[in-house]
Amino acid sequence: MIISASTDYRRAAQRRLPPFLFHYIDGGAYAEYTLRRNVDDLAGLALRQRVLRNVAELDVSTELFGEKLALPLALAPVGLTGMYARRGEVQAARAATAKGVPFTLSTVSVCSIEEVQKAVSAPIWFQLYVLKDRGFMRNALERAQQAGVKTLVFTVDMPVPGARYRDAHSGMSGPYAPARRLLQAALHPAWALDVGVLGRPHDLGNISAYLGKPTGLADYIGWLGANFDPSISWKDLEWIRQFWKGPMIIKGILDPDDARDAVSFGADGIIVSNHGGRQLDGVLSSARALPAIADAVGSDLAVLADSGIRSGLDVVRMLALGARAVLIGRSFVYALAAAGQAGVANLLDLYEKEMRVAMALTGARSVKEISRESLVGIL
Ligand code: FNR
Repeated sequence: MIISASTDYRRAAQRRLPPFLFHYIDGGAYAEYTLRRNVDDLAGLALRQRVLRNVAELDVSTELFGEKLALPLALAPVGLTGMYARRGEVQAARAATAKGVPFTLSTVSVCSIEEVQKAVSAPIWFQLYVLKDRGFMRNALERAQQAGVKTLVFTVDMPVPGARYRDAHSGMSGPYAPARRLLQAALHPAWALDVGVLGRPHDLGNISAYLGKPTGLADYIGWLGANFDPSISWKDLEWIRQFWKGPMIIKGILDPDDARDAVSFGADGIIVSNHGGRQLDGVLSSARALPAIADAVGSDLAVLADSGIRSGLDVVRMLALGARAVLIGRSFVYALAAAGQAGVANLLDLYEKEMRVAMALTGARSVKEISRESLVGIL
């Protein structure tokens, strides 16, 4: 029985996944201060209870880039999602599409852009990293457009990988990692059989499609390590703009000055994010960074936010701080690992229910009516 989406699915995911995968999802950078603050700063925000305001009719939908979203929420790009459940990207995308919210496919997915887009009736979002291999980037953009993707999420907070010590402890990286992963997989036969690990090696869809050969987890880690590009600058974004016709969202903004640069560049949206506390430990939580950014650029482009959202209440809090919509990462991944598509579908229903309760009891009848007035005091 599900009591709370955030804790119960997380616990179920931990039971189901081999440790190297669970900790890869669950962990953050260095001592994980920012990871914890993302959650704590949001949860610590007091919602302002209002009563007797006729909340019989609530509208939880919103509009973004000319499209209607059933909830002001999208699934965040999460690498290796197809390792947490069989064809995991397809399962999560189906749950999201059925609910009427966007699914974002990571560059480093197990299922390819084509496979995921074909499996659903609405356009998915596609996330791209800047990689040294510009040929890969062009190829991915062309394939995404051809498949029918309209919205590009461009992640800019990874010029270098964060220091993730949990991965070294768990066997995701570090000495003897392949052997340790194999051993852990063997100790989780139900998972291994289910995702196909023992049957056939994992294939990193988008990367394999480009390289023209199957790529497993070890190739992926090597390829990614060699391909992250610390020379990334606004010029690279202009280069990408030539190849992308639809809305472009820049993910990983944490400072109002960078947000203003995104406006000058002509971005359609930004995602206020610290990558779920996985990059630079010690930076501001998204909840703390968001109000100043929303004040600076909220009227110029769509300000979205992620990092630390674990419930529908948190969605309302982020909107109150100035976000037009939010993305959820770990929260949906735990549900997917625990119960596949049905888990993600159930999670999204829980988010909606929780949002409705929070809106009714703060007196907001629509998403537009959620404002800083919905909070008592501010961080
Ligand atoms: C991520 N995130 C991420 N972001 C991105 O742009 N491309 C990616 O491939 C990934 N991969 C990834 C893997 C895992 C396991 C996690 C947990 C996260 C970051 C993600 O999109 C989002 O910013 C955070 O997950 C948001 O924080 P919460 O919701 O997890 O607290």
